[in-house]
Order: sequence, then structure tokens, then C-alpha cells
Amino acid sequence: MTQSGNSTAPQPAAPLHVAITMDGNGRWAQKHHLTREEGHWRGRVRLYDIVRAFSDRGVRYLTLYAFSTENWRRPAAEVESLLALAATAIEHDAPRLHEQGARLLHLGRKDRIGREIAEAIDRVVSMTGANTGITLSVAFDYGGRQDILEAARSLIRDGRPAESLTEQEFGERLLTRGLPDPDLIIRTGGELRMSNFLLWQGAYAELYFTPTLWPDFGPDDVNQALDTYAARTRRFGALEAD
Ligand code: IPE
Ligand code: IPE
Ligand code: MG
Repeated sequence: MTQSGNSTAPQPAAPLHVAITMDGNGRWAQKHHLTREEGHWRGRVRLYDIVRAFSDRGVRYLTLYAFSTENWRRPAAEVESLLALAATAIEHDAPRLHEQGARLLHLGRKDRIGREIAEAIDRVVSMTGANTGITLSVAFDYGGRQDILEAARSLIRDGRPAESLTEQEFGERLLTRGLPDPDLIIRTGGELRMSNFLLWQGAYAELYFTPTLWPDFGPDDVNQALDTYAARTRRFGALEAD
């Protein structure tokens, strides 16, 4: 995926890494008198165009929150449908994204999602590993607290002395090792909360909440979010912009 178009107009400063909580599928379905499951499936339809819209605006890392460690609390039929949706997305969307040069990563546990999906994830991650386009990370069975807890466990297991531990070294134990911190976290669906997403990594992310339900979120909404980001001033605790 390349920078878009023939336009020579300067692009506003793009965030390096955007992360999205894709929320509102259930409410979208209700609004359209469909089942919640149909809402989730509709949420997949524009995935490819959305990835391309971010990529065309210069975003190099995109992280999508698809299933939280708490989403197992939903009815079994809905969870099954979300797992089937993940399998379909891996089968149909991953090859298309690969053709466009995207590198795919998974963030989260792989021990509860079924062997077939876990193996399919491994295959697409290795198939796309050398690609140099946008890095698309899908957070599936992901929880921010779980991520932090596992990092702490691994340091303790390795007998890492506590006093000299740095934030950077801690960050290298997280699932997001190798990825820059998100500059912008978008949440669709109108809820104003983190829901356990990128708790460590999002310390200084700009937050963008939109009432648009995820299945309605399209390239125009991408542009609006990125334009809003470009107008923000980030200070990282100092008095002036970095
Ligand atoms: C987001 O949509 C998808 C997942 C959490 C898996 P929801 O299913 O949470 O949709 P709402 O919030 O009920 O509308
Ligand atoms: C957050 O949405 C998780 C994902 C979008 C994957 P939820 O719908 O699960 O969040 P809550 O329950 O409203 O906090
Ligand atoms: Mg929700």
C-alpha cells in the first residue's frame, strides 16, 4: 500500500501508530433488526478499505481490538460466531492484505481460541513477516492487564533484578514488543472507556471517541479522525509541544 494519489498537497502530520477499539456491532445490528452475530459479520466488510485508508494517509502501524479477554463472558453462540469470523477473516482478508504488502501480527492469548485458528494465525504471521507495508496487529483474546501481568511473570521467572529494570526493558516483555506506542487510540460506538486495551502502551496516546458504530465506520471517518489528530498538541508532560 502506497501513499495515495497524485496530489501534491502536503498531508497533515500522520500518527505512526493508530489503535482502534471496534465497538458498536451489537447496537448496529439492533438498529437494523438483525442479530448481534450479523452485526459482527457486517463489521468485517470494510476492513480492507479501512486498512488501506490508514495506509494511504501514512500510518505505518494499525492495531485492531477484535476480542477482549472479557468477551468470553458473552453467550456461547456469540463467542462461537466471533471465532468463526476470525477464521474467515484469516482465510479471506489475510491473503489480500499480504498482496498489498501488509505485515500481520496477533496480540493476545492463543491457547483458548482453538488449534485451527491458532495455527492459521501462525501461518499468516510467518507468510507476511517480511512485508514492508503497514503492520496490522489484531488483538484477539487480548487484555491489557493480562499483558502486563505476563510481562511481570516472565521477568520474575528469569530472576531479573528489580532495581535496574527500566520501562524500556519492561516494554520488551509485552506482546507489543517491537511496535511503537500508539499515537492515537480510536473507539467507535460511543462508549468512553478503555475496556482493557493497551493500558501500558497507551500512556500518552491521543484519544478519539466517535458515536459512529463500527459497521458504519469508513474511509471518511478515518480521514476525520486523522484530521482531528493532526490538530492536537502533544506535550508529554512538558509545557511545549515535543
Ligand atoms: C464490538 O461490538 C465487538 C466485540 C466486542 C467483539 P459489540 O458486540 O461490543 O457491540 P455493542 O457494544 O454491543 O454495540
Ligand atoms: C471492547 O468492547 C472490546 C472490543 C471491541 C473487542 P466491549 O463492548 O467488550 O467493551 P465494554 O464491555 O462495553 O466495556
Ligand atoms: Mg461493545
